[in-house]
Amino acid sequence: MDFLEVNELKTYFFTRRGILKAVDGVSFKVKEGETFGLVGESGCGKTMTALSIMRLVPEPGGRIVGGEILLQGENLVKKNGKEMRKIRGSKISMILQDPMMSLNPVFTIGNQLTEAIKIHIGLKGQSLWDRAKKILQMVHIPSPEVCLKNWPHQLSGGMRQRVVGAISISCEPRLLIADEPTTSLDATIQIQYLRLLQELQNQAGLSLIFITHDFGIIARMCQRAAVMYAGKIVEIANVKELFDHPAHPYTQALMKSVPKVEERVERLASIQGQPPLLHHLPPGCIFAPRCGSEKRKCQLNEYPPSIEIKNGHWVSCWRYH
Ligand SMILES: Nc1ncnc2c1ncn2[C@@H]1O[C@H](COP(=O)(O)OP(=O)(O)OP(=O)(O)O)[C@@H](O)[C@H]1O
Ligand SMILES: [Mg+2]
Repeated sequence: MDFLEVNELKTYFFTRRGILKAVDGVSFKVKEGETFGLVGESGCGKTMTALSIMRLVPEPGGRIVGGEILLQGENLVKKNGKEMRKIRGSKISMILQDPMMSLNPVFTIGNQLTEAIKIHIGLKGQSLWDRAKKILQMVHIPSPEVCLKNWPHQLSGGMRQRVVGAISISCEPRLLIADEPTTSLDATIQIQYLRLLQELQNQAGLSLIFITHDFGIIARMCQRAAVMYAGKIVEIANVKELFDHPAHPYTQALMKSVPKVEERVERLASIQGQPPLLHHLPPGCIFAPRCGSEKRKCQLNEYPPSIEIKNGHWVSCWRYH
């Protein structure tokens, strides 16, 4: 069953320089217990897609202007603040891109973790602190009791990321969105953390949306993945199919130099040209200015609708129409 279904989601920023289409007609589904990857270059709209699902798009500039986000059939776009707080506390949770952003420097880890558990599960007193310790053990923090008394700055980057992970699973979510959870970690810690996420997912059977710019991590973690470019999904397939038969010229270009998991990569493979500015999108296909083939046709036609070229393999490119 599809746990989450995102249909034609549009999230725009209304800025002085014009309308910035951060997410522009994005559709995908995530099944129960599945790990779904969202991959693409910096600025393509991955975080905004995730924040839209959480209904935490930065205000006042940003707004969901269209589409629907169905969580077990319920449209989150239509929920009010109170309803969303309840859903965030019980069904969906997100690990933010920057772990320091999600930890408050003036409270101990214990205070922050117990606060999260208190809100979500409603435990009190000793059982609350026992639960906090147990969650820290689940994310393999070596001495949970010491950690509970620590302030965020006293922890290493890897430990901090584990604590953030602990807070995000403390409400026992059914869907976890992990936004580049390993970018701030060094290679070995990164792999350990990925293993940990897999372990947590297997234990709890939750759905995971994994956001990264690293195809190596997609291969390691995900069953299916979507490739994003300039606010749109250009291709979706299961991961093996995506690696063996990338269909969109953008995916093909990215695949030419898939970074290894051990390597730290800040940017994806260099592809000729620049991604378009999101408030000055080219007419026709958004990738046409960087794509070698059939340039005229692709610039003259409208944006190519997504087409299923093989079972479950969708691509938005005029080559396949
Ligand atoms: N608060 C904001 N106000 C205006 N524009 C914003 C804001 N936050 C993000 N954007 C724009 O929205 C677009 C999508 O940003 P988003 O953060 O989703 O990218 P991303 O794919 O997560 O990139 P990265 O890999 O760097 O994290 C970008 O063009 C960005 O500049
Ligand atoms: Mg991001």
